[in-house]
Amino acid sequence: MTRKRMIIVILLVLKLEFLTLVLLKAFFTLILNSIKSLELQGYRDGENLYGAPYDFRYGLAPEGHPSFVGTEYLQNLKKLIEKASASNGGKPVIILSHSLGGLFALQLFNRNSATWRQKYIKHFMALSAPWGGTVQEMLTFASGYSLGVPLVDPLLVRDEQRSSESNLWLLPSPKLFGPTTPLVITENTNYSALDIPQFLNDIGFSQGVQPYKTRILPLTGQLFAPGVPVTCMIGTGVKTPETLFYGRDGFDKPPDIIYGDGDGTVNLLSLLALEKEWSGKPNQPLKVIKIPQVSHTSILKDDVALKQIVTEFSDINSNALISAS
Ligand SMILES: *[C@@H]1O[C@H](CO)[C@@H](O)[C@H](O)[C@H]1NC(C)=O
Repeated sequence: MTRKRMIIVILLVLKLEFLTLVLLKAFFTLILNSIKSLELQGYRDGENLYGAPYDFRYGLAPEGHPSFVGTEYLQNLKKLIEKASASNGGKPVIILSHSLGGLFALQLFNRNSATWRQKYIKHFMALSAPWGGTVQEMLTFASGYSLGVPLVDPLLVRDEQRSSESNLWLLPSPKLFGPTTPLVITENTNYSALDIPQFLNDIGFSQGVQPYKTRILPLTGQLFAPGVPVTCMIGTGVKTPETLFYGRDGFDKPPDIIYGDGDGTVNLLSLLALEKEWSGKPNQPLKVIKIPQVSHTSILKDDVALKQIVTEFSDINSNALISAS
């Protein structure tokens, strides 16, 4: 009997911030939910299902720049994929990511050869990936963001959030959000994605400017097509911050917000960035699945979303069987 199942490596990005520790249990429950529905399909942890968690406080830098934790993570992830494949008869793996995990996976592909990708990667499924960052991050940096937890003063968590390097990576990318569209509007100044260095300075976080320019900007433009099949599954139709208005009281006071389409955290523009970036690339299979009224994290527990993930896996597996016979 040949084994029918493909191998899955799940990239989990753990937000181990001060406030988020409270939410961590809830987050794990979500992840476990999705893992449970995979286990029902015959996937077993440590056999053909592997996890690869990442500590969100550490960022990644472009190749050639030091970023010990980020680089080590990508190296370990590469080894894990090779090991998963080797313990399953050399079959290539399916990568499933959530949120920032998708950006890490794409970096992993970009930093390894086409031959390596062909050999080891069967399919890449990215849930809720913020390919071009989000306007929400500008709110996080300026005023703090209490993640919807009531009675928590966002200013209390702001310093912690500013020090999480990965947050810088999720600021809106100039390439996607454009050089002129104002994302933050104040009485005297408008800030587009191109003005982020000035913005970081003006909100009182000048320490972020240099890392942003040297380590983050070169990464944000990098959405190179890996040549392996990619599926993006995203939530839509949830109101998502699109423009922030700050009044006389400055950045310490929560802004007025104009909302647009997205998953509540990530703007639709960013969730769909690969469609735009890779259009007309014949050797880059890309499928986008939109799930209406599903938010950034509820995609991990929503019944419709979970069924869709499992269906996609069955399709990928049955295609693999056809091409193997
Ligand atoms: C900021 O943008 C708004 C809306 O696009 C515009 O009406 C306003 O004149 C701009 N203000 C400055 C200072 O450029």
